Amino acid sequence: MCGIVGYVGHSSGRVNVGHGALDVVLEGLRRLEYRGYDSAGVAVVADGTISSRKKSGKLSNLLAELEEKPLPDSVTGIGHTRWATHGGPTDQNAHPHLSDGGKLALIHNGIIENFAELKLELLEKGTVFASETDTEVAAALLGDIFRNQLNGDASNGGLTKAMQLACQRLEGAFTLLAVHADQPDVVVAARRNSPLVVGLGEGENFLGSDVSGFIDYTRRAVELGQDQIVTITADTVEITDFFGAPAQGKEYHVDWDPASAEKGGYPSFMEKEIHDQPDAVANTLLGRSDLDGKLTLDEMRIDPEHLKKINKIIVLACGTSAYSGQVAKYAIEHWCRIATEVELSHEFRYRDPIVDENTLIVSISQSGETMDTLMAVRYAKEQGAKTLSICNTNGSTIPRESDAVLYTHAGPEIAVASTKAFLAQITAAYLLGLYLAQLRGNKFQGEIKDILADLGKVPAKIQQVLDHVDEIKDLARSMAGAKSVLFLGRHVGFPVAMEGALKLKELAYIHAEGFAAGELKHGPIALIEEGQPVFVVVPSPRGRNSLHAKVVSNIQEVRARGAKTIVIAEEGDEAVKAYAEHVFYIPETPTLLAPLLAAVPLQIFALELATAKGYDVDQPRNLAKSVTVE
Ligand code: F6R
Repeated sequence: MCGIVGYVGHSSGRVNVGHGALDVVLEGLRRLEYRGYDSAGVAVVADGTISSRKKSGKLSNLLAELEEKPLPDSVTGIGHTRWATHGGPTDQNAHPHLSDGGKLALIHNGIIENFAELKLELLEKGTVFASETDTEVAAALLGDIFRNQLNGDASNGGLTKAMQLACQRLEGAFTLLAVHADQPDVVVAARRNSPLVVGLGEGENFLGSDVSGFIDYTRRAVELGQDQIVTITADTVEITDFFGAPAQGKEYHVDWDPASAEKGGYPSFMEKEIHDQPDAVANTLLGRSDLDGKLTLDEMRIDPEHLKKINKIIVLACGTSAYSGQVAKYAIEHWCRIATEVELSHEFRYRDPIVDENTLIVSISQSGETMDTLMAVRYAKEQGAKTLSICNTNGSTIPRESDAVLYTHAGPEIAVASTKAFLAQITAAYLLGLYLAQLRGNKFQGEIKDILADLGKVPAKIQQVLDHVDEIKDLARSMAGAKSVLFLGRHVGFPVAMEGALKLKELAYIHAEGFAAGELKHGPIALIEEGQPVFVVVPSPRGRNSLHAKVVSNIQEVRARGAKTIVIAEEGDEAVKAYAEHVFYIPETPTLLAPLLAAVPLQIFALELATAKGYDVDQPRNLAKSVTVE
């Protein structure tokens, strides 16, 4: 999830009054920095050449670089702010990437799934690569097509034609923006499964990942469709499909103020991030398996033969990340038959844990900087264990110090309370479980492929849940006065219940507890009194081991003692209706995947209740996004 801006104007326009393409692009990047801050870069076309600057770290690093090495005035420019996926957050991996002998510059948001195969092809042709990114492969492909297939002919929309041909070969999710020195008044862009919006000006046109990229200049926007290419000049906007057939975008008026534009029109980053979840899961799945369902990890410094000998997995994490680990434990043990423990990182080091070279430590961290988890990983390494990091932040300390890495591709999570990272972590941990099952022969390739196909359907199902949240919002508002809320779940529903309780504690400052439903009778049921709200995450009635019937009995037990029961159940589960004050249905899905859906109404509930109480949901009191102290 990167931020992208493009601009073309007239030399008689902004350049004249000291606001050239560079100023417009930098202002857009400033507004889009919430989309990624691993690096920033710009390219402008001036005097028949491409001039580019890029720098790892925040936009301020690029601004300092531009101070030192200014760029020429120009009417055409592109800019990028990066959230690293392929390749760490370094200067070399920063965008733009150049090709065609430095005459073409390209920026990219997304993941090119078939980059390895294209890279091989280009290497054979003698292309030299300077970075580890999939983006540079796309730049090289575009440059190669422009130069060799179209003979470098810039007349008659050469760059647009080259983009069409390149996109026909690319797989995955991408927004691409390109400029060429031989077509100085043009920016060409393409989109598939990644966002891109056109801003319409007077004698100038804009491109942005979202409208915040140009909201300071125009409120007229055009939404592009899937698999479309757009060519902008100062006075024209032309849209085609990947094969050159003319296409249409949808024009609309942007009535958001600049601040809410950064939040995609939502009142908070948290709400935006909850709505980002279909993409977070889809992007985490993207490019991880081939057509046969064969999986690979991102960075693998463990001999696969060694992984075959692993006899224990210990998942180390804190807070929400630890709950994702608890969900994953059920799947990993079921698929791989490897004993899996989940431990809070800060407890691990202080109990003399049994760890040896046949233990695989799986750390889960959104930030990759949580000190408790980092110290636990270091400790485990000292004991001889192999370490694997599931992390959302490319190049952060924990993945750097781990033997293997699997990145979640949720994009930056700005709100302190974790939401989209949670779902992406579960998804990545499931990919790891399937990878180990594949390696160790616990599952046939066909079975793995089937599970991946089920996972592939999850993003659309999350969207279905998100499309029906009005009722849970109403309920949350009506419960703003609640003093305590309990959450019950069983099997994978248990960590979901604990996560639901954590969200409510940290956002609404209400006492909340998550229990294993079966544990009720061993003590917690004493808490139930008249009117006590109790959320129950009910497993699918289609599941195994009569778990559903057990949970329905648990609901009856608390209800009989006066609890107000609020149930999350699978569509079609009529049995729960009789015992619930409120039922929220989630789409049918295999039991192990249900947490990816059941967590969503609980997030919405906490968000809405906290909002009703007037609290700042993005920055709850006493909390920090990245806990870098022990
Ligand atoms: C809760 C939350 C925290 C984090 C925890 C670990 O909403 O965000 O509980 O999950 O502090 O952080 P990471 O995943 O960055 O290691």
